[in-house]
Amino acid sequence: MKTAVFSTKPYDRRFLEAANPGHGHELAFFEPRLTLETAPLAAEHEAVCVFVNDRLDRPVLQRLAEGSTRVIALRSAGFNHVDLMAARDLDLTVVRVPAYSPYAVAEHAAGLVLALNRKLHRAFNRVREGNFALHGLLGFDLHGRTVGIIGTGKIGAAFARIMAGFGCRLLAFDPEPSPECENLGVEYVGLIDLFASSDIIALHCPLNPHTHHLIGAAAIERMRRGVMLINTSRGGLIDTQAVIAGLKSGDIGYLGLDVYEEEADLFFEDLSGKVLRDDVFVRLLTFPNVLITGHQGFFTAEALERIAATTLGNITAFATGTGQMHEVGVEVLA
Ligand code: NAI
Repeated sequence: MKTAVFSTKPYDRRFLEAANPGHGHELAFFEPRLTLETAPLAAEHEAVCVFVNDRLDRPVLQRLAEGSTRVIALRSAGFNHVDLMAARDLDLTVVRVPAYSPYAVAEHAAGLVLALNRKLHRAFNRVREGNFALHGLLGFDLHGRTVGIIGTGKIGAAFARIMAGFGCRLLAFDPEPSPECENLGVEYVGLIDLFASSDIIALHCPLNPHTHHLIGAAAIERMRRGVMLINTSRGGLIDTQAVIAGLKSGDIGYLGLDVYEEEADLFFEDLSGKVLRDDVFVRLLTFPNVLITGHQGFFTAEALERIAATTLGNITAFATGTGQMHEVGVEVLA
């Protein structure tokens, strides 16, 4: 199938080209993000392949549907950036990669916990400058601490297994508790109890209208003073201004982010020679107890191999009507 691949980075091209011989799709790689302005690049393409910061609102989908496009293949698990109602109205099929490596994201979340706790980001710089002093680097034992996990799907469950290995007590909130987590000893509680009892809170639920700004001023007020907050899920789960206020007051003791509400204008690009215009993001960078990575939770070789294989498999299944197609329909909005 003629497939327009947007937001192409060299690694996307490498893994998609390696997986394509079994499928034989005609892949056209475009570096820009998909927007209303770049949508005409896809005019002749039946499939459009996109990532998390591509724009898939009604006007863009309308423009794609006016051309040859029939299927939108997400190279991601999350689909919060797609107007699914518009896709249905325009008869566009949306497919995604429901699971590629929950370990990749869960291990990254655990990495943020360890780095923040033991201040590895600061220790790295100190030692390079010949400063071997330990003051300011005091951490705490993870063993015996309480970790609250919001969302225990594939990634949340993998994170629970890792933290269980450290000897943490595990609490969770999820409207659909996981039997696997219950067997691991995870205790399901209400959100308010989770906020009140957790030393570390990790977000692993999807972003949707119910979870938008789940972590705001009211939630922070209920948390333990000095809590560690980890978000590798989607930026919109956190009200960034409220979190900045919490960091300034000391209510939040540590913040680890792999995602940010306004990341579309920042992440995945080298902006090191540019002036950052997002003052909220720049404020976050000034805190010594904040560690931010640029949406790299998914970024392991195993995950990229599976993303490429599932994405091309989805397009093949759409084209041939056979094989497994991971469609996202409007029913997920219910
Ligand atoms: P999943 O669908 O397996 O699990 C999501 C879980 O969240 C489900 O158990 C669901 O019942 C639960 N949930 C739904 N609404 C909730 C609510 N209001 N409160 C608490 N829990 C709720 O998804 P998976 O694969 O575990 O991914 C989780 C999220 O991680 C994705 O939605 C995506 O946003 C993010 N992600 C981030 C990546 C990164 O590179 N940083 C890569 C892949 C996913």
